[in-house]
Amino acid sequence: MSYTFTLIPGDGIGPEITKETVKVIKSTGVNIDWDVVEGGMTALHKYHDPLPQELLDSIERNKIALKGPLTTPIGKGFRSINVALRKEFDLYVNLRPAISFKGVPTIHVDHLDLVIVRENLEEFYSGVEHYIDHTHSAAETIGIVTKGACQRIVRYAFEYARKHGRKKVTAVHKANIMKFTGGIFLNAAEEIAPEYPDIFFNDKIIDNMAMQMVMNPHQFDVIVTTNLFGDILSDLASGLVGGLGVAPGANIGYKVGIFEAVHGSAPDIAGKNIANPTAQILGAAIMLDHIGEIEASQKIQTAISNVLKKGKYLTRDLTKNNHVTTDVFGDAVVREIEQ
Ligand code: NAI
Repeated sequence: MSYTFTLIPGDGIGPEITKETVKVIKSTGVNIDWDVVEGGMTALHKYHDPLPQELLDSIERNKIALKGPLTTPIGKGFRSINVALRKEFDLYVNLRPAISFKGVPTIHVDHLDLVIVRENLEEFYSGVEHYIDHTHSAAETIGIVTKGACQRIVRYAFEYARKHGRKKVTAVHKANIMKFTGGIFLNAAEEIAPEYPDIFFNDKIIDNMAMQMVMNPHQFDVIVTTNLFGDILSDLASGLVGGLGVAPGANIGYKVGIFEAVHGSAPDIAGKNIANPTAQILGAAIMLDHIGEIEASQKIQTAISNVLKKGKYLTRDLTKNNHVTTDVFGDAVVREIEQ
């Protein structure tokens, strides 16, 4: 079977890490024709728009996109590219696995394997905010939470857990204080949980959750939560397993999925062939899993795990001594897959 997907190499280190990712995917035997389009600063220079119509049309056509990081231009009038893409394609799920790999320095956490399912469109990220006085000394952000959106994100979390053999879903909220918005989310979770008797369900209040994730993160498996809490908790989780260089993410809707690394375009190291492509490659593994290429996805995850474990091929962000370049790391992953 052969696919046509969109490839957005992106800005900064994007072209370097997506190049390695494409190489790694190819080595699994999955055949993908890439429809390459520009976004971010690269597109701004060419089309005067960081999110040109050509990019949107390509994603609309192909439904699946592998996306390198995009630099959001600084200055008034530019919307966040990532928020705009989520809205454009109704990408209501932000999937952020946090998996520890032997060989990756972490604070104190081994064998961690959890997934955060974050609602991606509502609440404080819907952009409804304004100053409430003419001196701009007071402002309000309105966080709109709807029952339908809560139900679909909770359902996605349970379905994901079932499909991936995970045993527990924890809903995270602040319903004790935000009784309306938090209440709608918690009610949705409590209503849907009994439909999945094979999966243990519990809930936690966000402040306690933050502490529990540091003190005892192994108690968690799938975590489902609203937008702001999910944003913060997923960065906390990636910190537990070694930071942004190894943290992949996916934005998923009913029709379209966009797969990426969590980190940005890292302009400070762009063009030097020293970026760590692991997060982007793991983003591709989520993509393959999402389209049903489970074996290829697993091959990539195992290969990454084996290469990191050997300790011989670590990029500069993971070791002080004898670090390897982006392409050498990519080659090591390819060799591991082809063995
Ligand atoms: P950043 O994630 O690009 O960089 C933060 C630090 O981490 C830098 O020191 C960088 O060198 C390092 N780093 C990041 N990824 C790395 C990798 N793969 N290997 C080794 N080191 C890595 O965050 P920053 O500097 O705040 O943002 C730069 C640009 O990226 C901004 O324009 C921002 O808007 C954009 N951005 C885009 C995202 C996306 O497209 N998904 C996500 C986050 C930021």
